[in-house]
Amino acid sequence: MNTFTSDRSAPDAAAVDRAEIKTGRRKLFVKSYGCQMNAYDATRMADVLAPEGYDETTDMADADLVILNTCHIRERAAEKVFSELGKVRVLKEERAALGLDMKIAVAGCVAQAEGAEIIRRQKAVDLVIGPQNYHRLPEMLRRAEKAGAVIETEFPIEDKFDHLVAPARAKVASRGVAAFVTIQEGCDKFCTFCVVPYTRGAETSRPVARIIEEAQHLVAAGVREITLLGQNVNAFHGSDEAGDPCSLPGLVIKLSRIPGLLRLRYMTSHPNDMTDELIAAHASEAALMPFLHLPVQSGSDRILQAMNRKHRASDYFDVVARIRAVRPDIALSSDFIVGFPGETEGDFQATLDLISRVGFASCYFFKYSIRPGTPGAEMDNQVPEAVKAERLARLQKLADGQRHAYNKSAVGKIMPVLFEKKGRHPGQIAGKTPYLQTVQVDGPEHLIGTIVDVEITGTSTNSLFGKLVEQVS
Ligand code: SAH
Ligand code: SF4
Ligand code: F3S
Repeated sequence: MNTFTSDRSAPDAAAVDRAEIKTGRRKLFVKSYGCQMNAYDATRMADVLAPEGYDETTDMADADLVILNTCHIRERAAEKVFSELGKVRVLKEERAALGLDMKIAVAGCVAQAEGAEIIRRQKAVDLVIGPQNYHRLPEMLRRAEKAGAVIETEFPIEDKFDHLVAPARAKVASRGVAAFVTIQEGCDKFCTFCVVPYTRGAETSRPVARIIEEAQHLVAAGVREITLLGQNVNAFHGSDEAGDPCSLPGLVIKLSRIPGLLRLRYMTSHPNDMTDELIAAHASEAALMPFLHLPVQSGSDRILQAMNRKHRASDYFDVVARIRAVRPDIALSSDFIVGFPGETEGDFQATLDLISRVGFASCYFFKYSIRPGTPGAEMDNQVPEAVKAERLARLQKLADGQRHAYNKSAVGKIMPVLFEKKGRHPGQIAGKTPYLQTVQVDGPEHLIGTIVDVEITGTSTNSLFGKLVEQVS
């Protein structure tokens, strides 16, 4: 899963002026780091706070509440948060000099991992909130107003966004054509490099009825594609309306019956949870897109074992063969860790071989970095940085070649493109192929939200270019 940083804002934020603050409206600035799940949570935090009078702003200095939604997957992630907090504190002091308040909240996985330490080290922080507690933001803000700093990093069993009222959900949904819905959180797999089981807790699945309700609201607000999110999304095991168990393929079938919901995707999957039923759904459910993010991490059995992945390279080849048997055109992507403790040149070569053999549409590479508290951190055969960097460059070269070849192979084909937004240049619109490639096309904006056949005419580093098969005015 690729990681990123994003500032979020409502399109109408600029229209909210100071007068509204006096009448009770306040401004919220959320900065989100890390995975899609954090991006989704940022949207939901804005939802929870909207009925409390918060509108989003793009200007941190203008915010009554700043939330840093943090990620803990990288080394020194906590240090980076503290340095960012130092900058926010300066803004808080500048506002205080003008008689204006600013509350600072730290959310996400660093909040979960560091807890009270954050407030101990940075006194300007008012609130530390773990990913399981976002539904309690309003209550915690009220407590912070009255009693000073508040910390909440428990793992309650309730659905954290369950209480959200329908209009609030629909408001957020109106922001686009493609949306995310979290269906599963946490992880019980304990790969020896990974902090997620500690920061997101044990694996839990949301009830099917809640997911369907959320999807219906999104579709009513214009969403046409939903990506189901989870740390181990294919381990989803919710219960349906009758209280019976429901796995991911069952959920996909139910969701694909929602009129207006044209496309479904899911991420991130674990190879050991690719069941026959899920693979069969790729053949039977037209809405389920032929793209699968299926991280393997390494091609070496020795390293896979040290990582506690509980599968061998040959198991991965088997899964890929089973999927390709029903969807020969499926586009695959994967994460890889380079320089896991003890990785030899031979182990690394096995990873290169796996990539060559599978053929990926896209790959994400991460240099191994120590996460305190994980078994990998205790391993004494750490790989030198220079070796990691050199191997990373070789991996990147191989994967770049595959990605370019994959994109080039699309040229000349006609593909159904779901248009999502305006394109890079005036008169252009941008959308996605079933294989998650971005396509830029000359075309009218009213096609946004619809699927239209496009002939692919060319490629650049990150996009495809195409033309509408039938001219539309
Ligand atoms: N649940 C998903 C994603 C986990 S985090 C999965 O099982 O694949 C996203 C990616 O970050 C991982 O796939 C892994 O490649 C990378 N990652 C996690 N911990 C890491 C670490 N300590 N060092 C380097 N990369 C790491
Ligand atoms: Fe981390 Fe492994 Fe769980 Fe993925 S499966 S979240 S890499 S422990
Ligand atoms: Fe980062 Fe937490 Fe996601 S550690 S990758 S934000 S689950």
